[in-house]
Amino acid sequence: MRVLGIETSCDETGVALYDSEQGLLADALYSQIALHAEFGGVVPELASRDHTRKLLPLIDQVLADAGLIKGDIDAIAYTAGPGLVGALMVGACTAHGMARALAVPILGVHHMEGHLLAPMLEPEAPDFPFVALLVSGGHTQLVDVRGLGDYRLLGESVDDAAGEAFDKVAKMLDLPYPGGPQVAALAEQGDSSRFRFPRPMTDRPGLDFSFSGLKTHTLTALRTLEQQAALDAQARADVARAFEDAVVDTLVIKCRRALEASGRQRLVVAGGVSANRRLRATLDAALAKRGARAYYPRGRFCTDNGAMIAYAGAQRLLAGQRSDTPQPRPRWPLA
Ligand code: KG4
Ligand code: ZN
Repeated sequence: MRVLGIETSCDETGVALYDSEQGLLADALYSQIALHAEFGGVVPELASRDHTRKLLPLIDQVLADAGLIKGDIDAIAYTAGPGLVGALMVGACTAHGMARALAVPILGVHHMEGHLLAPMLEPEAPDFPFVALLVSGGHTQLVDVRGLGDYRLLGESVDDAAGEAFDKVAKMLDLPYPGGPQVAALAEQGDSSRFRFPRPMTDRPGLDFSFSGLKTHTLTALRTLEQQAALDAQARADVARAFEDAVVDTLVIKCRRALEASGRQRLVVAGGVSANRRLRATLDAALAKRGARAYYPRGRFCTDNGAMIAYAGAQRLLAGQRSDTPQPRPRWPLA
């Protein structure tokens, strides 16, 4: 089955063609980052309008890259939620219009299911069951994954998502949006022994997260340095490093706990923050000690993309699932 995947939940227009026998045929991404940068975050109305402009040309591009025509599409999968309602609507209506014209089956996919299955597109794909750490700009969740669609929420953030905390700390440091990669790059120059920030909610049992206090702690540290006239380039890098170390350690501690509690040996890490190099290195080392292993998507499939939606959609479409009408679900729990 050749599936066209469409992702428009936030600020990336993603399109891909996935063949259930041959694998990924082509994928293309248009990022709106430059459009939203001057506002310091995603402006929903601008996002919808830009998806409208870019989606059809991207579909043409992906078909051309794969050497195919519209008539070669066997089914369509699109992100139905969660996300920005207007942005989701663009993908949903385009997908349903195309499916109707081509008389092919169609399915609305859960964005976070796309993220958690993204490592399945890699040569060394994990087998079920596994624990998934989903870390994006909107979500921080630990999920026990027993099979396709068989998900149990183990823990989640009670306030900010990890990516959101990275983005807010980037703003405090006057770094451009989206801040995760920028904070990570600055942290590279930082000295990890200068400051030690708290590892929130690790001193008590449980698998929930909280990053809001850590964000405030970071702001206070920056203000104190400013008052002491000590906020030079090195101090900024040291703060970025202390913040990143605290987020990474917190995520690693909870992942270890989740694996212990569930008895799983495999951990999938997906969503934008899974691109973070320090997170990957620290997790790999911690898991190797207990004979467990982490699986990640390739770099460009950590953040939003069409390939993960085409893949997740293909699995469910092959199982016979269908959607009747374009119904965006801006709030849609995964489990
Ligand atoms: O999954 P994603 O593309 O979009 C959502 O579904 O939210 O994740 C975007 C988030 C942003 O908050 C971004 O700052 C963060 O992922 N991010 C990173 C890195 N790359 C992206 N955070 C930390 N380190 C990175 N290298
Ligand atoms: Zn995402």
